[in-house]
Amino acid sequence: MSTPDRYAVLGYPIAHSRSPVIHALFAEQTRQSIVYEAVETPPEKLESTIATFRRGGGKGLNITVPHKSEVVRLVDELTEHAATAGAVNTLWIDDGRLFGTNTDGVGLVRDLTANKGWSLHGRSLLILGAGGATRGIVRPLLEQGAGKIVIANRTLDKAIALAAHFGAFGDVASERFDDLANLGPFDLVINATSAGLDGKRPEFPERIVGAETRCYDLAYGASSQPFLEWARGAGAQHVASGWGMLVEQAAEAFEIWRGVRPNTADLLSRFAG
Ligand code: ATR
Repeated sequence: MSTPDRYAVLGYPIAHSRSPVIHALFAEQTRQSIVYEAVETPPEKLESTIATFRRGGGKGLNITVPHKSEVVRLVDELTEHAATAGAVNTLWIDDGRLFGTNTDGVGLVRDLTANKGWSLHGRSLLILGAGGATRGIVRPLLEQGAGKIVIANRTLDKAIALAAHFGAFGDVASERFDDLANLGPFDLVINATSAGLDGKRPEFPERIVGAETRCYDLAYGASSQPFLEWARGAGAQHVASGWGMLVEQAAEAFEIWRGVRPNTADLLSRFAG
């Protein structure tokens, strides 16, 4: 029997990642022979870990917090979407060259629209946070017909810079958290801050959320709970964690790597986010 092809996810921290479980189930379902590991990678080891993985014959990597922006400079070739986003979550090696793309946005859009039936067309969106996670999702949301996107961030300058950058693709504005009280309620509020990773919940004005507002946290599991609890407390009746996005972005990466599309419905129904 031949040796299984090797894949891994690099992040810091990484212990709680469910990506290895997801890819193992996809491999079983599609009869692909792979191993997929989670490798704890502090920022100063990112470059050397990728180099060692390539030398060892590894086939592909997922990149997660906090490396999605930093990894851009280590890639030989970016897809157009990853170049616009300035953030990468999926790498593969082809003919000795390292390719990078970003499947987060496609994964989010598929979870919102196909899995949850939340239409984006003409909707008003608020994205909280202006880091690598936000960079990956703005353009795909605009391409789905989102009417207007407001990006709000603790550090206003970063929100201003992203609004200017993505303004080329649609109606994108920036706000301070405090000034959000004069806006809303929005149709969809997405938490893309990493605050929940430390169990923290920034204080947002409750006015951004109404009963019909859909609230979505890009994180899953315990990290998504502070924001989703806040959203429920503010009156939102439809809230969801990023579990479905994680599964869908993984399916997209798996298809790039293996050339077969796994069935996500099975996995989405077997585990709760
Ligand atoms: P990621 O790849 O997850 O986006 P990142 O690029 O480090 O990670 O960005 C983290 C985002 O979460 C930023 O928007 C950050 O706000 P600042 O730009 O002001 O740093 C936001 N964030 C992290 N902790 C936060 C907190 N406690 N309150 C508010 N925003 C927070």
